[in-house]
Amino acid sequence: MQVHVFENAAQVGQAAATLIAAQVLSKPDSVLGLATGSTPIPTYQELSRLCKAGVVDFSRVRSFNLDEYCNLPVDHEQSYHSFMKENLFDHINIDINNTRVPDGNAADPAKEAADYDAAIANAGGIDVQILGIGRNGHIGFNEPGDAFVYGCHIVNLTQSTIEANRRFFESEADVPRQAISLGVGSIINARKILLLATGADKAQAIRDSIYGDINPQTQASILRTHSDVIFLLDKAAASLL
Ligand code: PGA
Repeated sequence: MQVHVFENAAQVGQAAATLIAAQVLSKPDSVLGLATGSTPIPTYQELSRLCKAGVVDFSRVRSFNLDEYCNLPVDHEQSYHSFMKENLFDHINIDINNTRVPDGNAADPAKEAADYDAAIANAGGIDVQILGIGRNGHIGFNEPGDAFVYGCHIVNLTQSTIEANRRFFESEADVPRQAISLGVGSIINARKILLLATGADKAQAIRDSIYGDINPQTQASILRTHSDVIFLLDKAAASLL
C-alpha cells in the first residue's frame, strides 16, 4: 500500500484526478468506481477542468457508483444520482447511459444487488475505485460489524453515519436509514483503489485502517489485503499516523 500526504484537500483532489486521468488516457473505455460525499468533490472539480481543457476524454468511460440511499426518490436533491449529475456527470463528456448508480428504490432489492454485481463483472470489473472513508471506518456503506460482506447488499446505517449525513437533510428524521452498497468484495476486486481522506475527523479511522488489525469493525482495514491501494490524505487526516 502507498500513503501520500498532501498539504490540503485541494492537493488531494489534484493528485486523485491526475491518477484517474492517467488511467483514462491509457484505457479510454476504463471502468471507474465512483464515490459520493464531500471528500471527492475537489477530485471531480479537477476532472471537470481536465475534461474541459481537452486533457481527458470520458466519452467511452463507464462508471459504477458505490452506493445509494434506499427509499429516497432518484431526483431528490440528496440522492446520489443527483449528487453525481451535479458534481461530475453534468461537467464532463461521459455518456450518461454508461453510468450506473444502484437503484435504492428497486421493488426487489436483493435482485438489484445481484444484478449490480453482475453488471460490474460484465463490464470487465472496475479499473480504478475511488473511495472516501467514514468517521467509523466505513467504505461505501459497509458499516462496522461482525463480518465483511462481500457482495452488493442492503445496509442499515449506523447512528454515527446518520449523524454524519444529517447535515445534508432538514432534520435527522429525514436521513434515510437504509442504503444499497457495493460489498467489500466488489471493492477489493477493483484493479486499483484510491482512498481519499481529508480533515481531522477522519484521522482516527485512517490510523485504525493502516495500523489496526484487519477487522470488520474498521471495514477500510481490508484494503490492506489489496496489492495496489493508494491512500491520498491531507495533513489533518494523516495527523495520527
Ligand atoms: P464524506 O463521506 O466524504 O462526506 O466525509 C465519506 C464517507 O462517509 O464515506
